[in-house]
Amino acid sequence: MSWKASPKLMEMISHYSRFPATGVSLRQMVQFGGGQAPSTGTLFRASQFLSEELPIRLAHRVQELGDLPDGLNEMASIKKVKDWYAQSFDELTSLPKPVLSQEVKDRLLKPAARSGTTSQILSQTTHNPSVRKGQYKSAPDKKGIENGVERNNPSSSRRYYASADDGMEWPPELNNYNLKFAETLEKIKRRHDGVVTTVAQGILEYKRKRQRMQIDHNIQAFLDRFYMSRIGIRMLIGQHIALTEQRQRPDPNYVGIICTKTNVRELALEAIDNARFVCEDHYGLFDAPKIQLVCSPDIHFMYVPGHLSHMLFETLKNSLRAVVERYGQDKEEFPVTKVVVAEGKEDITIKISDEGGGIPRSAIPLVWTYMYTTVDQTPSLDPDFDKSDFKAPMAGFGYGLPISRLYARYFGGDLKLISMEGYGTDVYLHLNRLSSSSEPLQ
Ligand SMILES: Nc1ncnc2c1ncn2[C@@H]1O[C@H](COP(=O)(O)OP(=O)(O)OP(=O)(O)O)[C@@H](O)[C@H]1O
Ligand SMILES: [Mg+2]
Repeated sequence: MSWKASPKLMEMISHYSRFPATGVSLRQMVQFGGGQAPSTGTLFRASQFLSEELPIRLAHRVQELGDLPDGLNEMASIKKVKDWYAQSFDELTSLPKPVLSQEVKDRLLKPAARSGTTSQILSQTTHNPSVRKGQYKSAPDKKGIENGVERNNPSSSRRYYASADDGMEWPPELNNYNLKFAETLEKIKRRHDGVVTTVAQGILEYKRKRQRMQIDHNIQAFLDRFYMSRIGIRMLIGQHIALTEQRQRPDPNYVGIICTKTNVRELALEAIDNARFVCEDHYGLFDAPKIQLVCSPDIHFMYVPGHLSHMLFETLKNSLRAVVERYGQDKEEFPVTKVVVAEGKEDITIKISDEGGGIPRSAIPLVWTYMYTTVDQTPSLDPDFDKSDFKAPMAGFGYGLPISRLYARYFGGDLKLISMEGYGTDVYLHLNRLSSSSEPLQ
């Protein structure tokens, strides 16, 4: 039996959707580390924040999916995704909160001694430099909701990171709640695995029904917002699940899914191997075109390795495809694609230069459009496809570049492309090292 939202639930969703989301920065996310796994109290405070923040973000998406113009909201796949969001909202808001004594409540609100002034400074978010003013609304420290009731005073309870670690034992209810909350998040994360492909499917249904060749800029802007929001939600969920697990298995280099010493060279080498492997497989080549890496072995910074791998893999696949298709599959030697990594004070920049013939200037705006691809036959949309990158096809969805750019922008970086038609393409991947910028939200 399929799940259906009750009118009461939809009313609650509409209420939550009137509150702005609260942007978090990489720096705030990493505060949970501090050399050790977060205490039961600190984790509980974070789950309190998320049990309010995630429903707000989910509610915005339900509302937006329901209001999509031109009949797009009526497409079966779009409705399916909307129901996933509503169901996850329901699960989060109906999770019973533990009953706590006043003493425990007071202890939770008391900032721990070791999180003195530094945490105050660290918890400030700054403007995300990749976002035009007005493009997304990031709203750090706005008023919140508690039990569905508006609060005008954003008390200290509405903070993502608040150290609650006074060295004393916490009652077992707290830990039980933490485990239950993490379990709920895992279920939700799994439910949403297929969102990208299912929304893409919805767009295809719409294009077919309405006989549209290309999507207009409204839908493009919606997809940018929607997928960016998904990156943010999955980041917060993934982070919280990993933090919960790390209480059992601590790793000195990781805070949740953030690696404080992400080694660029190692990740780039791995992405090169993976992209070449997919290329050999796809074109039936014995040896894919070579990729040269220029990168000092000790460049490392704080980042989510999964995001960086994704961006490198996607851009490298594009370059390899361009090179093979320009010179033909039967060619024995191809021009080498060059990857150069530079480390600055503000950014780490990765340039990927290929000799794949470039892109005509008129097509440059299109490469950032979802579903723009020069592959003739789009491979079938498999909802399991984004679960593992390595089943990923060489090309064909037209999602590689726009989604990679969202990942870059999410933490204040950017992805740029400059092409010389008739020669090749340079892709610049800028990654922001300062990491204090807020998530781009709307
Ligand atoms: N390095 C490049 N050289 C030449 N053309 C490129 C390059 N990178 C991208 N393109 C062009 O831009 C289009 C869009 O790229 P994008 O990665 O977004 O989608 P795709 O590769 O077609 O499919 P997928 O979603 O599987 O990545 C490609 O189809 C190709 O025509
Ligand atoms: Mg691609």
